[in-house]
Amino acid sequence: MSDAPPAAEARSLRLAELLLLTAQALQAVEAGRSLDAVLAGVAPAARPGVQALAFHVLRWLGSARALRRRLVARPPPAQLDALLTCALALLWPAGTPPYREHTLVDQAVRAARGAGLASALVNAVLRRFVRERDALVAALQGDELAQWNHPPWWIARLRTDWPQDWQAVLAADNAHPPLTLRVNVRRTSTAAYAARLAAEGVAAQVVGPSAVALTQPVPVARIPGFAQGEVSVQDAAAQLAAPLLLGAPGRLGPGARVLDACAAPGGKTAHLLELADLDLLALDRDPQRLPRVHETLARLGLAARIVAGDAGEPAAWWDGLPFDAILLDAPCSASGIVRRHPDVRWLRRARDIDALAQAQSRLLDALWPLLAPGGRLLYCTCSVFKAEGEGRIDAFLQRHGPEADVCRLGAPGHLLPLADNSEVGADVPAGAPAHDGFFYALLEKRGTR
Ligand SMILES: C[S@@+](CC[C@H](N)C(=O)[O-])C[C@H]1O[C@@H](n2cnc3c(N)ncnc32)[C@H](O)[C@@H]1O
Repeated sequence: MSDAPPAAEARSLRLAELLLLTAQALQAVEAGRSLDAVLAGVAPAARPGVQALAFHVLRWLGSARALRRRLVARPPPAQLDALLTCALALLWPAGTPPYREHTLVDQAVRAARGAGLASALVNAVLRRFVRERDALVAALQGDELAQWNHPPWWIARLRTDWPQDWQAVLAADNAHPPLTLRVNVRRTSTAAYAARLAAEGVAAQVVGPSAVALTQPVPVARIPGFAQGEVSVQDAAAQLAAPLLLGAPGRLGPGARVLDACAAPGGKTAHLLELADLDLLALDRDPQRLPRVHETLARLGLAARIVAGDAGEPAAWWDGLPFDAILLDAPCSASGIVRRHPDVRWLRRARDIDALAQAQSRLLDALWPLLAPGGRLLYCTCSVFKAEGEGRIDAFLQRHGPEADVCRLGAPGHLLPLADNSEVGADVPAGAPAHDGFFYALLEKRGTR
């Protein structure tokens, strides 16, 4: 997903129109819809601009909401409230807002007038903010929601889980994510692809064994070699899954039976198949997400059996032959990829984490019996919450008891989305962009076949 600065994206449509569409998108997200789903319903000409504005608004939503409450004590009607909130977020942060103040205020007033909303109120509120910014911002000191732009329960959980790093993680969540590519080693090498980018004048950095981060994001259609299957878009931390599960080259021979239990849209499925000749079953509970797996594999020239099914109910889809390796990329809060999905923090509720943890444990318990003796299961989530990572593996190991058939092998555990990239590659250059937040645990079943 391109995440270009709003000003660049918005040029082709009037800002006032984009502001109204963004306010509608904010209302939909606040009603519980994901931004991806909302954007899919926006006219193609407006979509990039609305996406860019909505990303900015969602990153600064806590500050904007707190300001709106301070500036207009009685809550305005929902549509007006959303427009005001969007405009305030777009006047943020101080020093580097995406638009000049007078442009933004003028366009917000036009948007209000065009939609039959109280334009005089919009004008008065925004002008007061511009005039009294320093005092108004100072008055928000001590308001955690305004300071960190995350819900209080999320901040509290992070503080408990990561007493040293919670502030850095919250700050990192509002950064712009890198566009990182995974080189398809069946088609080319990382060095050859990096050289191709350099020759085509595309600035990039090698940030992992197969990972290349572009200095400036570009639309997917303009990524050199993408259509030809030379590269895919995948964060450097997500690129750890396939090599961790496969182990040393050749450990899993041609035709090894591998299950990718939560496969859609197929990023890790494809990476596994790029690295080894596997008999791979790609399973996902959501049939609507499976066409993406087909498309990805077709573009890359790879093949797998692709099946719709609940990984927690193997009786419905398992043929009874054990797997040599299982990837469980479990459904999770996505709290490690907030940079890419700034709506996630506002969509989740505190109670979701317990429900997700239960679902993750159910999947671990259901899939473990399907593993052959000597086989490996890689459990991962794109979460920074310990309840979805270390907590799940501790509980699993306890349920199995000390005499059990499970042995935990070396894998990175929790990776925070911070600038220390040593886990994703020994040679990652200093200054490489931070990877996403992830959790990895590798389990081996004792015994031989
Ligand atoms: C984190 S995404 C997987 C991303 C994928 N592995 C990749 O790398 O592209 C989690 C997926 O789990 C699927 N899922 C959720 N619950 C499931 C279940 N009980 N059985 C199988 N798939 C499930 C969701 O539909 C979603 O596609």
